[in-house]
Amino acid sequence: MDAGELSVRASEAQAFAGLVVRERNPENLEFPFSALNGFITSNEQFFVRSHFNVPKLDRDAWRLVIEGRVKEPCEIDYDELIRMPSRTVTMTLECAGNSRIFLSPKVGGLQWELGAVSNAEWTGVPLAAVLKRAGVKVGAAEVVLEGADNGAIAKEPVSPGKIHYARSLPLAKALMPEVILAHTMNGEPLSHSHGFPLRAVVPGWYGMASVKWLTRIIVTDTPFRGYFQTADYTFWEQRDELPVQLLPVTEVEVKAEIARPSLHEVIPAETIYRVYGAAWTGESDITKVEVSTDGGIHWENAQLLGDSVPYAWRFWEYYWRTPGEPGSHMLLARATDARGNVQPMRRDAHRGSYMISHVQPIEVEVRKVFSSGSTDAYAI
Ligand code: MTE
Repeated sequence: MDAGELSVRASEAQAFAGLVVRERNPENLEFPFSALNGFITSNEQFFVRSHFNVPKLDRDAWRLVIEGRVKEPCEIDYDELIRMPSRTVTMTLECAGNSRIFLSPKVGGLQWELGAVSNAEWTGVPLAAVLKRAGVKVGAAEVVLEGADNGAIAKEPVSPGKIHYARSLPLAKALMPEVILAHTMNGEPLSHSHGFPLRAVVPGWYGMASVKWLTRIIVTDTPFRGYFQTADYTFWEQRDELPVQLLPVTEVEVKAEIARPSLHEVIPAETIYRVYGAAWTGESDITKVEVSTDGGIHWENAQLLGDSVPYAWRFWEYYWRTPGEPGSHMLLARATDARGNVQPMRRDAHRGSYMISHVQPIEVEVRKVFSSGSTDAYAI
């Protein structure tokens, strides 16, 4: 390797904003949201959320078992699955714990900043096609998706030995054509971290529903009450005049995030600064993003960019004429969707440590620039 090649490689490495390690074991890696620069997140930068160690499954030995309330329980191997008619879905996957760092008082769990969210093109077989093949019996209510990964839960309620990661979908959601069993992510076979050889992709729902390392599908006639939808990934809800209930986290809430400026970024005074980011929602479309540069006193509409793609984030931008005087400023972005859902300003304590979709403050520092060039150019 000559020196020129080395310097090219070095500059490539610097240009690539790497994932942020939130936990090494199990693997939990955050997409550096301030590096947002393309509609599709590359496979290398896509965030990773795993509860147990990544199972390294062998393609030839792997089988998908479909059983429970079906007429013909069956097994499908990888080659057969790949040959089944597929469809491609673009979906933004957000972990229900994304933005936990913004909660006050602090709560336990991985301290995600803004990047437990990414967007990819997923290709796979509609779950409905697989269910059709097994023949769902009358009276079926839910479809349980089980992953190969497993482990013991050490915090209360402690599990009785090792349990598998599993989540269920109501039958109506499972049969929606865009709910797929994906084998391909952005044109490449899934990586081990993202669920090789097969994972569910459940558009409109938070990431916990998109079960990775899928090995078993069980159709049930009663609601499934597994750990990841009763003890974890739940929230309190006050509905009608009923007593408050604990419900499983499901549909994504409307939300905008600011990619730039990043938290505590220093910005030149008296300039035009491009504030930009992404906004997304559940089973609807983003219709508006508003930006405030004074902590929520005044709001102006941001420009929505590109076309609306169902279940995918929408980029937006807002040109901010920064003040002449130095000082700190609180930037906010607030999204609205076609169903009229507006991001709330305040955190709803009923949500515990999930569904963190209230408007999040990005504090920045405006400073006068006295010469161009490095960051030393800002007067303190
Ligand atoms: N599936 C299995 N089998 N095990 C897991 O730990 N984590 C879930 C979901 N599917 C998980 C899983 C959660 S909480 C999220 S947010 C997404 O996978 C993350 O998918 P990714 O790692 O491809 O980003």
